[in-house]
Amino acid sequence: MKIKNIIAIVISLATIGIVACQSTSKKTVQADFNNSLDHINEIELGKMLYFDPRLSKDATVSCNSCHNVMNGGSDNRQFSAGIRGQLGGRNSPTVFNAAFLSVQFWDGRAPSLKEQAKGPLINPVEMGNKDHKEVIARLSKIPGYVQAFKNVYPGNDSLNIENLATAIAVYEKTLVTENSPFDRFQEGDETALTEVEKKGWETFKQVGCTSCHSGDHFAGPQLPEGQGFYMKFPTFTEGNKYEKAYKFTKDKGRYAETKNKADMFMFRVPTLRNIALTAPYFHNGSVKELDEAVKVMAKSQLNRDLNDEEVASIVVFLKSLTGTIPEQTFPVLPPTVGFVAN
Ligand code: HEC
Ligand code: HEC
Repeated sequence: MKIKNIIAIVISLATIGIVACQSTSKKTVQADFNNSLDHINEIELGKMLYFDPRLSKDATVSCNSCHNVMNGGSDNRQFSAGIRGQLGGRNSPTVFNAAFLSVQFWDGRAPSLKEQAKGPLINPVEMGNKDHKEVIARLSKIPGYVQAFKNVYPGNDSLNIENLATAIAVYEKTLVTENSPFDRFQEGDETALTEVEKKGWETFKQVGCTSCHSGDHFAGPQLPEGQGFYMKFPTFTEGNKYEKAYKFTKDKGRYAETKNKADMFMFRVPTLRNIALTAPYFHNGSVKELDEAVKVMAKSQLNRDLNDEEVASIVVFLKSLTGTIPEQTFPVLPPTVGFVAN
């Protein structure tokens, strides 16, 4: 055989190999996917839904669009962009450790993660569905979801809003960050915090931040699910230049929901875990930097003007509350068959 022919044969064998390889790998993904639907558990189903933009009216926005679990669990925007680029009026809080909060939203209007998850689906500027029926009807045209819901929640009509919200909430309960330097310090590792961070922790307590930001999540005392720990924000408005600059009181807080005068400007005390990852700050996302947020708090909640050293010290401490973001793998989503979402 001539050398040219040998080369030609080798090349064509290699090509066949590549083609064969490609088709096996395609098959494997599809086979794995079908198998995974047979064994799918509630967390995996919840994760698919969380990442699936087809939950929104025009298939453009997923929960992850505004609560990016690869990056601090929020979107680092002042206001999130929902369908057709519409902006809401509040900043997106992180989903990390939301499972530990006894009420959800800045004003605590949802009593649990499950109830919370139903909200964005029918919020006109977020996912934009007319009602929950519309989402369920759309997902019901995706055979993979029908099968997945059946496997996870046996029974008839298992693809319903209650199960959908439950699955998302179950996935969100895995979004927990652990092992921050501060946690290791609390568990007895004296070396986990630097001297500067320890001093910051002392300053944080000493100036009175812990009168509201206490407990494991710095969100106040642990209350039963559905009961919130609320405070007026800003508490001090007299001579408060920050209120003038950032217009916090444009938003009436819980009052907007309850119409009860006592709820005027009341907001839930938020967690401070991973606060270094979730700029910008406050319900209206008006403050870009953490040091400015600390000054705003001291003035607005404690009527104190902190000096630069105190501010810097508290910021260093707050940064020690950044935990390990749990590794995420992308879910494979069931294919759309024979319809277009719009
Ligand atoms: C268009 C952006 C957007 C989308 C899409 C969105 N969210 Fe949100 N999310 C927000 C904003 C903004 C808030 C705060 C609203 C408020 O407090 O009034 C919020 C609040 C939350 C909270 C409360 C956290 C806390 O600390 O109180 C959770 C949990 C949450 N969203 C999960 C989800 C889930 C699950 C989905 C998908 C079903 C979703 N979000 C879709 C923007 C979005
Ligand atoms: C009287 C209660 C109270 C005190 C004292 C207090 N806070 Fe707050 N804190 C709140 C409330 C309520 C909010 C939510 C404000 C809002 O609606 O934007 C908040 C928000 C924050 C935020 C922004 C959170 C976010 O996700 O955007 C930071 C940072 C913060 N506080 C740090 C501190 C520090 C540091 C101190 C001490 C100097 C302090 N707080 C003292 C009640 C308090």
